[in-house]
Amino acid sequence: MRLDRKIAIVTGAASGFGEGIARRYAAEGAKVVLADMNIAGAQKLAAELGPNTVAIGGDVSKGRDVEAIVACAHDTFGGLDIVVNNAGTTHRNKPVLDITEDEFDRVYAVNVKSIFWMTKYAVPVLRNQGRGGSIINIGSTAGIRPRPGLVWYNGTKGAVNIATLALAQELGRDNIRVNSICPVIGATGLVEDFMGMPDTPENRQKFLSTIPLGRMSTPADIANAAVWLAEDNSSFITGILLPVDGGRTA
Ligand SMILES: NC(=O)c1ccc[n+]([C@@H]2O[C@H](COP(=O)([O-])OP(=O)(O)OC[C@H]3O[C@@H](n4cnc5c(N)ncnc54)[C@H](O)[C@@H]3O)[C@@H](O)[C@H]2O)c1
Repeated sequence: MRLDRKIAIVTGAASGFGEGIARRYAAEGAKVVLADMNIAGAQKLAAELGPNTVAIGGDVSKGRDVEAIVACAHDTFGGLDIVVNNAGTTHRNKPVLDITEDEFDRVYAVNVKSIFWMTKYAVPVLRNQGRGGSIINIGSTAGIRPRPGLVWYNGTKGAVNIATLALAQELGRDNIRVNSICPVIGATGLVEDFMGMPDTPENRQKFLSTIPLGRMSTPADIANAAVWLAEDNSSFITGILLPVDGGRTA
């Protein structure tokens, strides 16, 4: 199995892309911490996936919660090899002047500050183990080729992407690899907020027409990329922003 003996944290594992990544990681032999503010959802998934997974609640924008998530990996499975910073949110698609301060603060806290905290708590563990590691940030095509109506969400994903490049520069000497996966729109819990309209076939077409391969991304697409960036076959890959986008950013 491709992730045999690896220990992973997946944030936002209760639904959407995070759930897809967590399922694949478990199937590939990893031990997986399923972290989500939706603790019931994380527990349900852990019950289904079995004893190589553990669920933990918490808000990734809060330092104490992220510290507990990292400790959970150590206490339950004895170490840490892979961190997937996937939990994220958005303000609804709307004109930039209608976005409130609260919405701005929340989207930056969940999408960007979470990575600040995870870096602070996970990197010392990876360094102390001395066997490197793989940090995978879920960025977005929004941070490469932004759409209107999502200005500050786009800003957070630009920050995620550039932080990925900078972290790769700084952590390379510890053999800690840092990469971003940049999905195009997918039909997860966030899709109607991204669209700013009901997810009907007609409305979907407006988005599909901008994707050369003609479909949305799926959790399986994102999980395929996340397995590769976590496994030893990508051991010389760091500091990349990998679009999984059917050609949207080409
Ligand atoms: N769906 C898309 O179109 C799309 C496209 C590009 C990037 N992304 C990114 O993919 C990631 C996953 O989103 P998704 O589309 O699967 O959405 P989703 O809503 O289905 O899943 C997000 C998960 O994160 C959890 N979560 C949210 N805020 C949290 C917090 N503060 N602390 C802990 N857990 C939290 C939610 O409970 C949920 O389980 C996000 O970073 C998102 O920005 C999504």
